[in-house]
Amino acid sequence: MLILGIESSCDETAAAVVRDGRTVLSNQVATQIDMHTIYGGVVPEIASRKHVETICPLVEAALAEAGVTARELDAIAVTFAPGLIGALLVGLNFAKGLAFAAEKPLVPVHHHRGHVAANYLAHPTLEPPFLALVASGGHTLILGVDGYTDYRVLGSTRDDAAGECFDKVARVLGIGYPGGKVIDRLAVSGDSSRYPLPRAKVDGSPYDMSFSGLKTAMINLIHNAEQKGESLDLPSLAASFELAICDEIVPRTVTAAREFGYRKVVLAGGVAANTALRAAAGQACSREGLELYLPTPALCGDNGAMIACQGFYEFLAHGGAEMDLNAYATLAADYTEVPQF
Ligand code: KG4
Ligand code: ZN
Repeated sequence: MLILGIESSCDETAAAVVRDGRTVLSNQVATQIDMHTIYGGVVPEIASRKHVETICPLVEAALAEAGVTARELDAIAVTFAPGLIGALLVGLNFAKGLAFAAEKPLVPVHHHRGHVAANYLAHPTLEPPFLALVASGGHTLILGVDGYTDYRVLGSTRDDAAGECFDKVARVLGIGYPGGKVIDRLAVSGDSSRYPLPRAKVDGSPYDMSFSGLKTAMINLIHNAEQKGESLDLPSLAASFELAICDEIVPRTVTAAREFGYRKVVLAGGVAANTALRAAAGQACSREGLELYLPTPALCGDNGAMIACQGFYEFLAHGGAEMDLNAYATLAADYTEVPQF
C-alpha cells in the first residue's frame, strides 16, 4: 500500500511516500529555520505563509522521488493535530484538495503518534506494546503504546516542553536557533557537574514533568554572570543543563516502563536526537533490562515519512476521514475518535 504523508504543523513543510508503513520511497523536508532565526522562535503567520509557498512543489518532489503519481497512491495521510493552527490548515487543506482530485482516502494523523512511528521506519521489526517518550519543541509526554492506534497518556510536562527549554536557553545565551542542536554540540566537551541546577518534582504525579524552574534557573544564572562581568564555561553549562533535562525525563520513563509492564522503550521527537539523552536512556534501559529503540537523528525532527507510516496504521484501523475534517491546535495523543464539529 502506497501512502503519501504530509506534515505542516510547525516550521517544516514535509512530504513523503512510504510503502506498507515501513519502506520509505521518498522523504522531502523544507525547513523554515532561516526565516524564524532572527526572531529566536517560530512566528506563526510567517510559518503559514511559507507552507503555502512550499507545499505544491514539495509534494510534487516527493512523488517524483518515489517515482509514483497521485493516481497510484492508496491514501493521503496528513497531520491534523496538534500544532500551529494556521500551519496545520495549510497541509490539511492541500491534502483534502489532492485526495478529492485523485479520488483517494484522506487519513488524519496525530503529530505525536507520527513521531513515535518514526521508530517503525528505523526498526522494521518493532511492534507495540511499548512505552514511548515524546520530547519535541511543544510537548514532553510519556505514552503507553498498546497498539498502533491505542495510546495512553501516562505523564506530561506541566509547563514548558523540553525542546522549548533548549530553545529559550539558547536564545538567552545568544547562540542560535533552534537551541537543541547548538547546545548538544557545545555540551560534548563540557563537565556536567560544574553548574548545580534544580530538579523538579510534581507532587502526587510521579510521571508528570516540569521544565520551567530549570529554564528560570538557567536564565538567572546567565544574567547574574553578565551583571557581575563573569564569563561562563559554556560547554560545561550546556552539559549541566542537559544532565538536568535527562534527570527529569529518563528516570520517569524507566520507572513508568517498569510499573506499567512494558519491556520496550521508544524515544521520539526532535529532542530524541540529543546525544546526552540517547546515552542516558541507553544506560538506564540496559540497567533495567529494557530494550531501547531510537529513531535515526534525521527521523527525530518533523518529517513526512513518519506521518505516512502512522497513516498506514490509522488507515488499516479506521479507514479514511470525511472532507469536513478539521485541524486542532491541541488534542491529546490518546484520542479515540477524531473530533467532529
Ligand atoms: O519534533 P520537532 O522537530 O518539532 C516539534 O514538533 O516541536 O522538535 C523540535 C525541537 C526543538 O525545540 C529543537 O531545539 C529540539 O527539538 N532539538 C533538539 C536537538 N535537535 C532538535 N534538542 C536537543 N538536542 C538536539 N540534538
Ligand atoms: Zn514534531
